[in-house]
Amino acid sequence: MSSKRYTGLIDKYRDYLPVHDDTRLISLGEGQTPLIRLNNVPRIIGKDVDIYVKYEGLNPTGSFKDRGMTMAVTKAVEEGSKAIICASTGNTSAAAAAYAARAGITAFVLIPEGKIAMGKLAQAMMYGAVTLQIRGNFDEGMQLVKEVAEEAPVTIVNSINPFRLQGQKTAAFEIVEELGAAPDYHCLPVGNAGNITAHWMGYSEYLKAGLANTRPKMIGYQAAGSAPFMRGHMVDKPETIATAIRIGHPQSWDKAWNVQKESGGWFDELTDDEILQTQRLLAQHEGVFCEPASAASLGGAIRDVKNGKIPEGSKIVCTLTGNGLKDPDTAIGQCKNAVMLTIDAKLGAVKDSILKNMAG
Ligand code: F0G
Repeated sequence: MSSKRYTGLIDKYRDYLPVHDDTRLISLGEGQTPLIRLNNVPRIIGKDVDIYVKYEGLNPTGSFKDRGMTMAVTKAVEEGSKAIICASTGNTSAAAAAYAARAGITAFVLIPEGKIAMGKLAQAMMYGAVTLQIRGNFDEGMQLVKEVAEEAPVTIVNSINPFRLQGQKTAAFEIVEELGAAPDYHCLPVGNAGNITAHWMGYSEYLKAGLANTRPKMIGYQAAGSAPFMRGHMVDKPETIATAIRIGHPQSWDKAWNVQKESGGWFDELTDDEILQTQRLLAQHEGVFCEPASAASLGGAIRDVKNGKIPEGSKIVCTLTGNGLKDPDTAIGQCKNAVMLTIDAKLGAVKDSILKNMAG
């Protein structure tokens, strides 16, 4: 039997990525994430739509950032860099830390103190990054990273590093391959707006290569307290329970506006309650656990299907950017009505609990 070992997205898509035959690839087998067709949500909302979720939370460090990080770290190492740096709301720092460990270089990560999910903090520490908690938010961290990279020998691996978007565009390739065509709509949560930009690049490259005949309308959903694309200007004190997208100064501002215009899509915002409600809906009716920020894509799509902005008969892909396990506190905090009983370790007690809680 011949070996078909999957060796990561750079190897798979090397014809579309800026690498040479002899480039040393820093990979953890990222990419190839499931595209799950929702069976129950369309029925629950009473609409005839085909909704798929691209479960990016199944990447090696639990978010889509691994797609960009394999490229950014591969190129940093190729260029002789010994250290990388990023500001992060948690997922970029986890990915940077892991890929730096894999490459044998140092990762410096700046995170907003007290404002990143517990799982992400555990990752940065466990993978051995130098973790700098700042008394400030992501936007301030990003500014500091840009300034320090002028003065210290570190490579920035935030999405302003163009190799990040190169890696992330491969998610669009995978979607086109699985569906046999581009979807009609692609919905994403938006923070810095790098990922929506990267997806558009991917769809555009496959159109140009003749591997797709169309491109989707791109829809970006923000958290209401952190929605500069809805306000039309930068926001100085962003707030949301979806800490991954607690960003007021998006780094890909102009690029994302171009994506919106070229694709004919739009931006919209969701309240924290809508985000959490969607996170629960997806977990409890489809068995898919994503982190709060990720649920913004599906929550927005559901609303726009209900209000007719997305017509019935459409094929929709929602990116679930990160894994629900990243943020156990927010998950447990909203499951006050979950059935969890403490009982004696006795057969009778277990049996009673079953009989009282059988559905139907
Ligand atoms: N969803 C999750 C789970 C994220 O972690 C991020 C960004 C986004 C969506 C937004 O993506 O910035 O490309 O528009 N997280 C960054 C980080 C900022 O530091 O982990 P974007």
